Amino acid sequence: MLKTFDKFKYPLIQPRLFRDDIQKGISVLKSGQITMSKLTKKFENDFARYIGAKYAVMVNSGSSANLLATCASCNPERKNTFKRNDEVLIPGICWSTSLWPLIQFGLKPIFVDVDPNTLNMDINDLKKKISKKTKVIFCVHVLGNASNVLEIKKISKKKKIIIIEDTCESLGSEFKKKKLGTFGDFGTFSFYYSHQISSGEGGMVVCNDKNDYKILLSLRAHGWSRDRDDHKKIVKKYPNIDPRFIFINYGFNVRALEIQAAIAHQQLKKINILKKNRNFNRSQIIKLFKKKEKNNKKITFIEEAKNVKCNWFGVPILLSKNLKKYKSKIIQMIEKKGVETRPIISGNFINQPAIKLFKLNKKKIKLKNCQDIEERGFFIGINSLKTNKKILKFVANSLNQVLDNF
Ligand SMILES: Cc1ncc(COP(=O)(O)O)c(C=O)c1O
Repeated sequence: MLKTFDKFKYPLIQPRLFRDDIQKGISVLKSGQITMSKLTKKFENDFARYIGAKYAVMVNSGSSANLLATCASCNPERKNTFKRNDEVLIPGICWSTSLWPLIQFGLKPIFVDVDPNTLNMDINDLKKKISKKTKVIFCVHVLGNASNVLEIKKISKKKKIIIIEDTCESLGSEFKKKKLGTFGDFGTFSFYYSHQISSGEGGMVVCNDKNDYKILLSLRAHGWSRDRDDHKKIVKKYPNIDPRFIFINYGFNVRALEIQAAIAHQQLKKINILKKNRNFNRSQIIKLFKKKEKNNKKITFIEEAKNVKCNWFGVPILLSKNLKKYKSKIIQMIEKKGVETRPIISGNFINQPAIKLFKLNKKKIKLKNCQDIEERGFFIGINSLKTNKKILKFVANSLNQVLDNF
């Protein structure tokens, strides 16, 4: 393990690269094969197998994974696509780069409220907001938890709605024993430093359709055909074009480095134990906190939704309604004790200034639960290694000591 960060006694993210991850990274550097190559392919194959999808395409971030999934969904090489001004349903608790690709490709976002018990999309509100113009449902699985994805799938199937699952915060979580990210047309993942496995930066898109896979491969690298398995056919079809540079689609360059793949691959091999540790640490913090019964009603710990087995991203917490007005004071006091906190993703996203800039909420809809979560919610981090009991006690005691004042 690398040495610990020192700004907070209990930071959001703790050192998380193991010796073997680092050694693997160094061996890639020494090999001279820095750019995407065989190790990336191997990681993609193992990731697809782990997650239960047919295909996986590694990219340089979870944001790029969302960009490619959205771009592939409206690509002319695809049969079922969306057009400009079609509607997309997206929860109000989302990350910025869950939303931006939808705007960049001309979709009209319709914000859906969330269930305050799970932080995830509220199926009843989703059903109310589906219209003939709905072409995409963009699920964001928040902090390891999920909505009823099977129900969402059922609704979408009838109406041929494309599902993209932003699973960037929920790698390894399951719904009815099937991994999140495999219920829709595309699943996206992030390997940023705070996520369930990490290579510093990095991401993945998964899908089950071969045609979608081919599109993703072109989109990832310049729009060329060279990474696709129909490349030979394409070469024959265009004999006058240099076979190394046939541009069959448009594209970006969002490839990851081979070193990122090597590190993330090493972490993937350990994911089950890391998951066990993370979930153990979370349950211990809750158990130790609850020992002081006096404060039990002052906060609610978010629990797994029905049928979901979480690989928790953190410990999401809601303050009781009567403590809402003290939220910033409480957060300040918790951080002063040395426990780092974060909002629940970005709070109610429709409050963000860019929503006004792009006129994304013309009807001025209100999301009652997202607003409530913004006003009462926050989360603290969990370590991927089993945390020392003293530190877990310190976290639980810090929460209790702060709440004693209210
Ligand atoms: C829900 C969600 N989607 C997408 C992303 C973007 O991932 P990245 O930071 O790897 O670009 C994040 C980042 O944390 C996220 O929380």
